[in-house]
Amino acid sequence: MPYAHITGWGMYVPELVLTNEDLSKIVDTNDEWIRERTGIRERHIARENEYPSTLAVRAGLKALDIANLRPTELDLIICATSTPEYLLPSTASIIQDQIGATKAGAFDLLAACTGFIYGLNMGAQFIRSGSLKNIMVIGTETLSRFINWKDRTTCILFGDGAGAFVLQASDEPGGVVSAVMHSDGSGANLLTLPVGSRFPATEESVRNNKHFIEMDGKEVFRFATRVMVQATNEALKAAGWTLEDVQWVIPHQANLRIIDSAARGLKLPLERFIINIDRYGNTSTASIPMAAVEAVENGSIKPGDKIVLVGFGGGLTWGALTAEWTGPLPDRRPVHPQRYRTLARVRSIFRRLLRFIEGIFFRREL
Ligand SMILES: CC(C)(COP(=O)(O)OP(=O)(O)OC[C@H]1O[C@@H](n2cnc3c(N)ncnc32)[C@H](O)[C@@H]1OP(=O)(O)O)[C@@H](O)C(=O)NCCC(=O)NCCS
Repeated sequence: MPYAHITGWGMYVPELVLTNEDLSKIVDTNDEWIRERTGIRERHIARENEYPSTLAVRAGLKALDIANLRPTELDLIICATSTPEYLLPSTASIIQDQIGATKAGAFDLLAACTGFIYGLNMGAQFIRSGSLKNIMVIGTETLSRFINWKDRTTCILFGDGAGAFVLQASDEPGGVVSAVMHSDGSGANLLTLPVGSRFPATEESVRNNKHFIEMDGKEVFRFATRVMVQATNEALKAAGWTLEDVQWVIPHQANLRIIDSAARGLKLPLERFIINIDRYGNTSTASIPMAAVEAVENGSIKPGDKIVLVGFGGGLTWGALTAEWTGPLPDRRPVHPQRYRTLARVRSIFRRLLRFIEGIFFRREL
């Protein structure tokens, strides 16, 4: 049975930074309150011409670069997102076209902030079953589009960004070892983004700010502190590991106090947790891969390290995944995946043109 190795990683955040100080000019809040209650100092915000796919393409190409894999070698793109570009088509298909992953299937996965863990587990299963070899899992968000900038209880928390992993099959032991996924829909009302077929936009709904993130912060906080410890222990047990075996825990970055509480619950020093919430806020599905990418880049996570990813979010959903960090598969000649981007653009335009011409010639037969 092949193993599913994490062989590439990349992240991207929009350039525009919104500090706590900036927020205090928009709503009644202040830097001290936000830092004390959440650990957040600043977050990145997408500009008008930046979308989940824009961020994901950049993160994804970096991940392919590290894995030294051509986009055309990808079998599947799983895009976990809480803020899809459209309800239809999937953000994953837009990414697939833009990076030129011509042979890849593509779909979006919605499990709120736990989405990246669900996606990584799903990708690993495709590889372990022997049916696919190269998979990209992406978490990408522009949450800023769904924030009510008049609501100080939510607008301080979220930020935009993307993180991507490449999963590859190998007979060498390592990679994703175990995962647990959970859901409790009885808590669906605690964290919602009412955009969809139940809440089509009307003049009135838009006027009344009905299509923004709504949250019961206290309840979500309580739920999160409980499930982080539980899910971590379950995933460790499934892997046959104990906490002593693990070098790093990479938690969903929602609130520093939630991470701190999980650390105390697990009786693990906070230093063993990868934390970057201060600079990005809560980027939902992107938060775990973004934290992992930074930790690899600054030398914290090294090949051979055992890690646990753990997250929670709307749904309610929660889960954890264990993996042994390996890095790129043994060298082959550099394939420069970034070069495929221009080619992908040309191909996309060409295919549209072809479809248009086909339409003219075959219209009568249809
Ligand atoms: C949202 C959250 C930071 C609020 O922190 P809290 O410690 O529970 O704060 P409270 O809601 O009890 O508010 C305390 C006080 O601060 C005020 N307050 C709320 N937001 C504020 C802000 N941005 N700035 C200043 N004051 C604020 C409240 O009005 C309240 O004032 P009061 O005591 O006069 O009524 C916290 O509940 C949280 O992080 N929850 C989890 C949310 C989450 O992670 N969601 C995503 C899941 S993926």
